[in-house]
Amino acid sequence: MERTFTALKPDAVKRGLMGKIIERFEQKGYKIVAMKMMNVSKELAAKHYEEHLGKPFYNDLINYITSGPVVAMVVEGENVILGTRHIVGKTNPDEADVGSIRADFCMTKEYNSIHASDSIESAKREISLWFRDDEICDNYKTSLELLMGV
Ligand code: CMP
Repeated sequence: MERTFTALKPDAVKRGLMGKIIERFEQKGYKIVAMKMMNVSKELAAKHYEEHLGKPFYNDLINYITSGPVVAMVVEGENVILGTRHIVGKTNPDEADVGSIRADFCMTKEYNSIHASDSIESAKREISLWFRDDEICDNYKTSLELLMGV
């Protein structure tokens, strides 16, 4: 089954939106197989955002993601990478579909509450960057998995 990485950013934590955001993944039927609240080091932030190195907003990106706790998650499900991108919405909240997290909870692309992997390669890279293998808790079945007999 496909897996993706997602992280609730410091504004989501500080604004008390964690439950509302996590609920969207649960109600979709996706399986959360790892989750932790953590303070992100500059080193981890730099590795995570290495593709943005040199861009004008790079320093702000690093300062922001290290400015408070983040809730990192690994989410599993059929086509979960694409599905999660839809649930999360476009980077710019003004362009995100109504009903997506970024449209519903965010005003700016700098403080857009959540990150989600954008491809199979990024998902693999980001999951292994943020989680050790023994932090993945896939030893349970969701009610949907039981229904589907998987
Ligand atoms: P995220 O999904 O975490 O991945 C990279 C982040 O960079 C993105 O969300 C935005 O928060 C941020 N970002 C992308 N484009 C811009 C931009 N033009 N100006 C400021 N921040 C941006």
